[in-house]
Amino acid sequence: MRWLSLVGGILGSTTCGLLLYAFSVFIKPLRAQFGWTTAEVALAYAICCLIFGLMTFPAGRLSDRYGPRIVVVIGGILLGVGFFLTSTITTKYQLYLYYGVIAGLGGGLVYLPPIATAPKWWPDRRALATGLTVVGLGLGSFIMAPLATSMINTFGGALPVFKYVGIAMLIMAVCAGLCLQNPPPGYKPAGWTPPAPKEGAPKSTRDFTFSETIRTPQFWLLYLAYFGGSFAGLMVIGHIANHGILEMTKAFAAVKGIAATAIPADSPELKVIAMKAAYATSTLAVFNALTRILIGVFADKIGTRICFLCTFALQLLALLVLFPAGKAVVGLCIVAAIIGWNYGAMFTLFPATCLQYYGPTAQGSNYGLLFTAWGLAGFAGPYVGGMLLDATKTYSAPFLVAAVIVAISVVILFIIRPPEAKEV
Ligand code: 2OP
Repeated sequence: MRWLSLVGGILGSTTCGLLLYAFSVFIKPLRAQFGWTTAEVALAYAICCLIFGLMTFPAGRLSDRYGPRIVVVIGGILLGVGFFLTSTITTKYQLYLYYGVIAGLGGGLVYLPPIATAPKWWPDRRALATGLTVVGLGLGSFIMAPLATSMINTFGGALPVFKYVGIAMLIMAVCAGLCLQNPPPGYKPAGWTPPAPKEGAPKSTRDFTFSETIRTPQFWLLYLAYFGGSFAGLMVIGHIANHGILEMTKAFAAVKGIAATAIPADSPELKVIAMKAAYATSTLAVFNALTRILIGVFADKIGTRICFLCTFALQLLALLVLFPAGKAVVGLCIVAAIIGWNYGAMFTLFPATCLQYYGPTAQGSNYGLLFTAWGLAGFAGPYVGGMLLDATKTYSAPFLVAAVIVAISVVILFIIRPPEAKEV
């Protein structure tokens, strides 16, 4: 059962990765087929992130109450059906409803319960177990981008991708749900004894109820830090390819001594630049996946606090150099790797910290609410990025705003300490 909880997590999170992080490949074919603007298509993604993020709270509450299995199975059905129905759209409102609302809702229900369940089976390797339940987000996007691109080329449009992948997602997510079950109360793995409390220390517990949790200031500080890290990460994920294209085109035009606008949109040079910019997106995705496991190994050894401080401080530095790095593909890929690494680390470190601060009993509800910060950031980050780009015509201002917000998160993570344990 211990291992099955990880299998369920990997399967479920891979399904969510198929849903979320490769959406950018659908933008062009949907625009070509329906004549919508980029903003109109991108709104579906923003709705999906928002609903996905907000659904994790009820998903966690329901999982604490009824167990993870039923929640993930129902979520998996909604996710698959929503994705499948997207293959039938004829209006943008249907895209918003099927992909944004129904699939987003199902995704949130599938995503959260494994994160609350696996560490209960793995009290000896909590951060690593958490990392494994979210690794599929990186994995799924890594598979989906090339898979969807080749299916779009084969079928000559995006809609069939939603049909076939929707069926696969439904099967995967329902199987994920069937693998999940809470351990019996007080479960300890064979041969493992919990670390003994310090001698003379008062008998205390870190198992908080949900209402106790949300009354601690630490919870809301974590919420702000999570929002900051997600805002910056999701802004970069949504815009890095476009940033690379803009800056590499300018650099190319400067070498040729012509205006960037004088290069025809279908010129071979611009196609090469677009391909180079896409490398940055893939590099970010690979590091976003790798970190989820590796940071879990570190965090189990050296603690989440030091990992948090290092990753957020590094993210701040990377955001400060991201704008000039856009001029050349190698620099852009290196910065993308660092940003992907630090962004992905959050999805292991925040649940592990929430568990360490507040204990396992209400982890579904606690982390479910904490994760809504990601949903709000998923809407705000890419949107603010696009708005500032339109106003200033470069990514210097958006990345600077993201850096300031991450700097606030660094301060929070530096000052925050676990809440006082309750006496028993
Ligand atoms: C994650 O990547 C869904 O963004 C969330 O785990």
